[in-house]
Amino acid sequence: MQSDAPRNPPRHVAIVMDGNGRWATARGLPRPAGHQAGVETVRRIVEAAPGLGVETLTLYAFSSDNWRRPTAEVAALMLLLRRFVRAETGRLAEAGARLTMLGRRDRLPGGLAEAIAAAEQATAHGTRLHLRVALDYSARDAILDAARRAAALPALTRDVFARLLSGGDHAAEPAPDVDLLIRTGGEQRLSDFLLWECAYAELLFVPRLWPDFSAADLSDAVAWYAARERRFGGVGAGAPQPAPPPATPVPSAA
Ligand code: FPP
Repeated sequence: MQSDAPRNPPRHVAIVMDGNGRWATARGLPRPAGHQAGVETVRRIVEAAPGLGVETLTLYAFSSDNWRRPTAEVAALMLLLRRFVRAETGRLAEAGARLTMLGRRDRLPGGLAEAIAAAEQATAHGTRLHLRVALDYSARDAILDAARRAAALPALTRDVFARLLSGGDHAAEPAPDVDLLIRTGGEQRLSDFLLWECAYAELLFVPRLWPDFSAADLSDAVAWYAARERRFGGVGAGAPQPAPPPATPVPSAA
C-alpha cells in the first residue's frame, strides 16, 4: 500500500469521538443509531491510520462518567462494543494491528471483558498499529491507580510512572506520549482523557461530528500536525538546544 504519511507524522494520535448523539438527532433517529454510525467511522480511521504514519491510536469509547447516560443508551453502546471487538479481531490481526483496552474491566457487562481479553491475546503480535480503546476510563482514576502502585516502588521517575499508567507494571512498555489529540463535534475540552499523556500534545478541535469524520479528515489533521513547531518548553529549531537536566528520581514513601 502506498503511504500518504507526511515527513513528520504524529506517532500517537488520540481521539475524543464526539457528536454521535447530535448526528442521530439531526436525522430524527435514536441516539444509539449515531453510535452505530460511529462504529463505521472507527473502522475507516483504524484502516487509514497506519498509512498516515500513525503507530498508536487511542480512541475514547466510554468514559467512567458515561455511566450517567440513560440505561438504554449505555446498553446499546456496550452491545456495539462487544460486536465490534468480536467482529474485528480477525481483521485487526490480519492487518497487523494490536488491540488493547484502557480503563476498568470489572464493571463491564457480561461477555465484553472476556471478548476484549480474547482480542488482546489474538492480536498481541501486531506491530503495524497499536489500537487502544479507552472504556470505562477516567484519566484521574488512572493516575490515582498508578500512584497507589508507585507507592510500593523504591524510586519513581516519569518513565516508570508512564509504564504504570499504561496499565502495566513498572517494567512494562509505556505507551508513548500523545502527539496529536483530536476532538470531533466542536466542543473544546479534554473530558478526563489521557491527562498525563497529553502534557505536550497538539490539540485539534474540529466541528465535524464523529460519524461524518473521514479518512481525508484524519489525513488533514496529520498534515496540520506535521506543520506545527513543537518546542517542548524550548525556544524552537533555530536556537541552540541544550540538553535538559537529568531526571531526578522521586523517592516513594517507605
Ligand atoms: C460521544 O458522542 C460518543 C460516545 C460517548 C461513544 C463513542 C463510541 C463509539 C464511536 C462507538 C464504539 C467505539 C468503538 C471503539 C468501536 P455523544 O453521544 O456524546 O454525542 P453528542 O455530544 O452529540 O450527544
